Amino acid sequence: MAKVVTMAQQKGGSGKTTVTIHLAVELARRGLRVAVLDLDPQGSLGRWFMIRLDRHPSATGDIGFGTASAWGVTYEVSKNARTHDVILIDTPPKIDGDLRPALKVADLVVVPVSASEVDLWATEGVLELAAREKRRPLAVLNRARAGTRLTDKIRAAITELDADPAETVLAQRVAYAEAIGAGQGICEYPGAKAGAAEVAALADEVLDRLGPIG
Ligand SMILES: Nc1ncnc2c1ncn2[C@@H]1O[C@H](COP(=O)(O)OP(=O)(O)OP(=O)(O)O)[C@@H](O)[C@H]1O
Ligand SMILES: [Mg+2]
Repeated sequence: MAKVVTMAQQKGGSGKTTVTIHLAVELARRGLRVAVLDLDPQGSLGRWFMIRLDRHPSATGDIGFGTASAWGVTYEVSKNARTHDVILIDTPPKIDGDLRPALKVADLVVVPVSASEVDLWATEGVLELAAREKRRPLAVLNRARAGTRLTDKIRAAITELDADPAETVLAQRVAYAEAIGAGQGICEYPGAKAGAAEVAALADEVLDRLGPIG
């Protein structure tokens, strides 16, 4: 049975789609059968997937793709659960009752937080919602610099909100956006070693949290 990871964050542009894509490709590269599900009507994940199919036909089939409505997610996950090892769910930037099925179905909730106080304030709601579903989220600092005072402060605040800040911090890197535009993950993108190393470290943490797969 597949393990399910749901990306959630009410703040738009925090990095939900970015983390979904780069993690998906990294996990697939490790030989796991990965599916991504787009619950966001903006459809950015689907755009990326179509570019991937078009420009990297040899990568066709390494990652499964599906869409679902907020309430159709449980069924879509059950359809993919036997044929995949990991299912990554990208959600729209809002928190309301619609997010609940995607949280309920998750083995792990990942909350990307862009490193600013404003983004931190926007994070409280999703952490509370996850707690109500008895999930302890992994908060991933995005566009952040490890070791800065701001990063440390946001980490401490996340812990106080009953979530775990990931050890791995994702920096602001043009390659994250460029790779997506090219239909790729950063681990496949030329000249993006530092970003690829960050995503690999994040993948290790996520797998660690998920426990044995298969
Ligand atoms: N670490 C990063 N370095 C550089 N660009 C980034 C980084 N993270 C995200 N971006 C860029 O910021 C924009 C927003 O990121 P993304 O689409 O992943 O956020 P999101 O949380 O999915 O947004 P939405 O809530 O609108 O779905 C995108 O253009 C993306 O390429
Ligand atoms: Mg998105």
